[in-house]
Amino acid sequence: MTDTLDIRTNRAGILIHPQEAFEGMRVAGRLAAEILDEVGALVKPGATTAELDDFVRGKIEAAGATSATIGYKGYQHATCISINHVVCHGIPGPKVLRDGDILNIDVTVIVDGWYGDNSRMYWAGRAPKKAQRLIEITHDALMEGIAVVKPGNTFGDIGHAIQRFAESRRCSIVRDFCGHGLGRQFHSAPNVLHYGRAGTGPVLEPGMFFTIEPMVNLGRAETKILADEWTAVTKDRSLSAQYEHSVGVTEDGCEIFTQSPAGVYAPQF
Ligand code: MF3
Ligand code: CO
Ligand code: CO
Repeated sequence: MTDTLDIRTNRAGILIHPQEAFEGMRVAGRLAAEILDEVGALVKPGATTAELDDFVRGKIEAAGATSATIGYKGYQHATCISINHVVCHGIPGPKVLRDGDILNIDVTVIVDGWYGDNSRMYWAGRAPKKAQRLIEITHDALMEGIAVVKPGNTFGDIGHAIQRFAESRRCSIVRDFCGHGLGRQFHSAPNVLHYGRAGTGPVLEPGMFFTIEPMVNLGRAETKILADEWTAVTKDRSLSAQYEHSVGVTEDGCEIFTQSPAGVYAPQF
């Protein structure tokens, strides 16, 4: 069924998916979002990040789906869990959550060959006020980016909207990681930058599928990778937050494939 889909590549090298492909992305995105809805109940002081990862792995298996991250470039977990000054790609393990920790949980599933990739922020116990502010700004920055996704606008418009919003609130946008095309592959063209100039970059067309996943820091933008070769942290150890949705460009705007079924995507303190 999916083999017969007419997926073409445009002049910028970006895949253009037909209408029928949206349903595949909807199903994958919904599962990825539902798992993020459910894992929230387990986030509390005393929990380990390995427990959260086990829960997610079990949910993916129970749904008859596949984790996109297990086995990806040697990665062995169903989630990335990035705590406090960890920017992204935090590895779940024995680490115990403490009251006031903030964390991003990132889950990517494959359902019937289609990828659903999303992440959200959580907090153990009570998040400090400055962390709450960062989390809200990061969520709102993602939504500012999504708001300009429509045919005729450009990828530069998305980056610009996100950067302008975050920097106007004296936060910085991480440059070292970006969003990506996805569909029947995990990562494809283009690199979706979370900064940039309006009107630059490839033009958005109906049928493009990609993630937007800004990482926003309270301090400086620079990151470094730890010795485990995965964990990215802020160089200045300032707090970092991230939100990610998978979206598809429609005739008049965009569809968010990873909308929360429970309606709890936006942070509520
Ligand atoms: N889900 C991440 C993203 O948003 C990728 C994680 S790759 C892993 O693109 F190997 F670190 F899991
Ligand atoms: Co992604
Ligand atoms: Co992700």
